[in-house]
Amino acid sequence: MWYFNSPEVVYGEDALSHLDTLHGERAFIVTDPTILKLGFVDMVKEHLHAAGMQVAVFAEVEPDPSLQTVRRGAEVMRDFAPDWIVGLGGGSSMDAAKAMWILYERPDLDPAGINPFVELGLRQKARLIAIPTTSGTGSEVTWATVLTDTEEQRKLALGARESMADVAIVDPVFTVNLPPQITADTGMDALTHAVEGYTSAWRNDFCDGLCLKAIQLVFEYLPRAYANGSEDLEARERMHNAACIAGLGFGNSMAALAHALGHALGGVFHVPHGRAVSLFLPYTIEFSARGGGTRYAEIARFLGLPAGDEEEGAASLVKAIRDLARQIDQPLSIRELGITQEDFEANLPKLVANAETDTQMVTSIRVPSTEQSEQLFRYAYEGKEIDF
Ligand SMILES: [Fe+2]
Repeated sequence: MWYFNSPEVVYGEDALSHLDTLHGERAFIVTDPTILKLGFVDMVKEHLHAAGMQVAVFAEVEPDPSLQTVRRGAEVMRDFAPDWIVGLGGGSSMDAAKAMWILYERPDLDPAGINPFVELGLRQKARLIAIPTTSGTGSEVTWATVLTDTEEQRKLALGARESMADVAIVDPVFTVNLPPQITADTGMDALTHAVEGYTSAWRNDFCDGLCLKAIQLVFEYLPRAYANGSEDLEARERMHNAACIAGLGFGNSMAALAHALGHALGGVFHVPHGRAVSLFLPYTIEFSARGGGTRYAEIARFLGLPAGDEEEGAASLVKAIRDLARQIDQPLSIRELGITQEDFEANLPKLVANAETDTQMVTSIRVPSTEQSEQLFRYAYEGKEIDF
């Protein structure tokens, strides 16, 4: 028995006005200082007021939100006693909102102990709305929550199916003026979700179509969104859809090795999530394809790339991903991130240890040994083709 989970998805131009139709008394917005400064919180507030709600705002979510921030937000939330929680921002704000919501409803729980096998009994006090302001994480439609334990220098992937939002509002108005670098990082995250969702060990019939469509949309619209910015509203809207569709796909089939390695790198060197995971994607495709039984050729064929057999298909897909990354000025190796050899070597044992305990490791179609994980990091540092 398996489940396909999804919030209600409201998308496209003016999707935000769906907020006007909500029934409730108090809404609590979880966001970050940049989103506040951009005026997005006011836009959301206006609609919540139109629905007759009182509104409180917690705008202190940092990139890679920490357990400490989540605990603090949950306390403020408890004082306000909302019946709606609104996660507004990128993955960090939406993930922080999910985690704060869990602690608000279940103050007895330790966040590190939250996993898919624990029944939380949420929705006694509030429901959750997720509003993404970047086109990448898909956090608006997934239940996974990534927090950072700042003391341990590692990322914690928490998960509970119940903590998925009730409503996802996918309105491209928030992405029109995204800076090119964020457009590139988050767009490549969406691509990594879709490729890994289609090829993970938990891939399934319900997610395949979503992942393929998202991959196609990213290849078509990410270069345009990156190059044209606010001039190309169509590209913005289609990338926003792509990220959400990829989220629905991988959220129900899981990500894989590129995410395990990327989380490890991000935890130690604070590389933005999308840049970190997508950097590893070509290497993990090469590594996985060498183990056989993969489906990269199917993706390549869907994109119209040469794919006579699995080997050629995987190579075509790797080349297409690297071409796309180059087109949008993304790094292709760890060295290109500006991390010195010395710093890299000093942290290699920690990188390997973090990757091996990452939850996305077990859903990989080919799980590397400790030696292979170390090799993967070394090859990705040098930018070398995987030959093992
Ligand atoms: Fe991701």
